[in-house]
Amino acid sequence: MAEVVVVGAGLIGLGIAFELAERGVEVTVLDRDEPARAASWAGAGMLAPFSEELPDDAMLTLCRRSLAMFPAYVDALRERSGVDVRFRRDGTLHVALDDARLAELAVDAETYRRNGGEVAMLGRDDVLAREPLLARNLSGAAFVANEAQVDNRRLGRALLASCAERGVRFERDADVALECDARRVRGLRTRHGFTPARTVVNAAGAWAGELAGVPPEARVPVRPVAGEMLAIALPRNAMRALVWLGHRYLVPRDDGRLLVGATVDERGFDARVTAAGLHDLLDAALAVAPALAGFAVVETWAGLRPGSPDGRPFLGTTALEGYVAAAGHFRNGILLTPITARLIADLIVDGRSDGLAPFAPGRAAAGALAAATNHVA
Ligand code: GLY
Repeated sequence: MAEVVVVGAGLIGLGIAFELAERGVEVTVLDRDEPARAASWAGAGMLAPFSEELPDDAMLTLCRRSLAMFPAYVDALRERSGVDVRFRRDGTLHVALDDARLAELAVDAETYRRNGGEVAMLGRDDVLAREPLLARNLSGAAFVANEAQVDNRRLGRALLASCAERGVRFERDADVALECDARRVRGLRTRHGFTPARTVVNAAGAWAGELAGVPPEARVPVRPVAGEMLAIALPRNAMRALVWLGHRYLVPRDDGRLLVGATVDERGFDARVTAAGLHDLLDAALAVAPALAGFAVVETWAGLRPGSPDGRPFLGTTALEGYVAAAGHFRNGILLTPITARLIADLIVDGRSDGLAPFAPGRAAAGALAAATNHVA
């Protein structure tokens, strides 16, 4: 019997599998698709807990803990896998194109500071000295120095190789159902047969709410939220910082590609790239950096974020013994990979649930969910 079966081979599932395998647990990972695809592949890899709109202090604390884990995490993965995931702490620029926006940013900067951001207000000349491709007529920016990025596609490769090196088994099957008796989980049924397991972890991202066979009281209400993106080819190092444009952003990669993301659309399991989506992204990007107009668009893609009703993920034990949730990370799955892996492994291996209470999956059944939109103050 596999001790643990993880459903979902995205970064969250791979991170949990790797952490469990490091602690000596026998793990199987099951996915409908290739590992490290879907949102894990589609994301931009921003590690930006101060710039992101987080619903509350519990989520901010979780995100900050995970950000602090990254330097050691990427070193450990490089040692295991040989893959450099290009962790870069170049900070985030929130650019104001006019004085009214700059005044708003000065207020936002206080919030970022209170939340732990290392923030400086920069004038036009300072901003343009750092990032010459930005609009010459901008008014200034708020710069959050302690935010970072990783190349999430490389992070996927690193985790996959690290899991393989630790003996994690992988299975691919689109047709998966949880099997349980009146008391607890028994394992998973696939087209290929039955895989018994002591613990099943649902890390199925946007599909986490769809897993068949889960009793209603143990379900997690995760829904897909589409994000479209594109990449522009720039000369290497033509930009360094993340540039934040409300919900949209520019993310410069080491290879010269500039990622432009992302739309936020509730339209079910629809991961198409649309004309309206590209229009929206290019509009925002060219407003803040008109010099991008002459460069080539080299890639477009879309992914489905796993949304949760209150903006917090579902982490921990459910109403069904042996069935654990690790899903609903919405815009912060890449950032939250190390801390999610640690907390879920602490739970499964040592029975410890420290830090998990605000993320309890049971809050869904208990009706304790409120829609979250407020920036942490
Ligand atoms: N993490 C940014 C996004 O989901 O678009």
